[in-house]
Parts: sequence; C-alpha cells; structure tokens
Amino acid sequence: MAIEAWYMEENSEDQRLPHHRNPQEFVSLSKLEELGVLYWRLNPKNYDNDEELRNIRESRGYNYMDFLDLCPEKTENYEEKLKNFYTEHIHANEEIRYCLEGSGYFDVRDKDDRWIRIWIKEGDMIVLPAGIYHRFTLDTDNYVKLMRLFVGEPVWTPFNRPQEEHPARKSYVMNLMENLMEERFSVALEAH
Ligand SMILES: [Fe+2]
Repeated sequence: MAIEAWYMEENSEDQRLPHHRNPQEFVSLSKLEELGVLYWRLNPKNYDNDEELRNIRESRGYNYMDFLDLCPEKTENYEEKLKNFYTEHIHANEEIRYCLEGSGYFDVRDKDDRWIRIWIKEGDMIVLPAGIYHRFTLDTDNYVKLMRLFVGEPVWTPFNRPQEEHPARKSYVMNLMENLMEERFSVALEAH
C-alpha cells in the first residue's frame, strides 16, 4: 500500500489526531515528489539485511545511521520534545526517516503554503529535502521507532520559521519554482 497523505484541517484540536478536511482531500505521491519529498516502501523486519535499503544508502551517501524511540514511557521530556518537533522549521540538510515500528505524522508545506500531513507507518521511508518547512508529531498511538540516516556527521539543528534568507531555504524555493516551470512547460507541449 502506498503512503497516505492529505491536506490538513487547521484547528486547535490535539495535534495527534488526523486533522482531515471535510470532505477529505488526499495528496498523491507524485504531488509529494513535486515538493521534493522522496518515498520508499521497505521491509521493516529485515532492515539489517535489506539490499534495497543498502542500495539507497549507498547511492545517496547515507553513511550515518541511528535509532530514535519515541513514546511517553521511554522518552525523557516527552511532551517538551513533541512540542519542539511540532514547531515549524527547516534544516540545512535532508531529513531522512525510516519507520521501523509504530507510526507518526510528518507535515510539510506545499507550494501555496498549505499543510500536507504524511502518515508514516512501519516500512515507510521518507526524505524531506533541505529547506522545506515541516514539523513532526506522533499520532494517538503514541509510539514510533525511527531509523535516522544522514550524509556524514549528523546535524539535527532546526531553524524555526521564518527562514527566507537561509541558503537552504533559498535553494529549495528556487528548485521548487524550476520544477513547477518544467511541469507547466511539458503540459503545454503535450497540449500542442
Ligand atoms: Fe525536522
């Protein structure tokens, strides 16, 4: 099954709820790709020996790896951490997360600054490009085990919005514009 993503209803309800719009408005994988978000479906039971994971890591240079367990019982300052993860931010590098157990939501802004909620579950691996505004929360199951990958020494520093002058933000916006122009151009060509 493909990953599920949808446009969010913004209200003050618990961030761990799905926040679907009414009617529901789902977002396709190709729409996420337009934003620079990458996705793979892998076998989470076999991450030690998974050739596909090995190939992704090799081809993208993800030599660093660790694990992050998030749940109220195991995580120190759980509520505070969750609040920080849910503060809108960017990073100077990609954010690469592979869900091994449990589930959670990555929210990303689309080109019109609308929130898209991406529901990751066991076996979902996603890459958020450097410079994309995003945030993370657990869902109401309150548990996720994530593999974190990185190129070289990891830097997890979040830069909270606004970051319009940050080099990663600038180059993200430029790439996004180019992607959208290219797409419009190819649609126009097809129409002729
Ligand atoms: Fe982040």
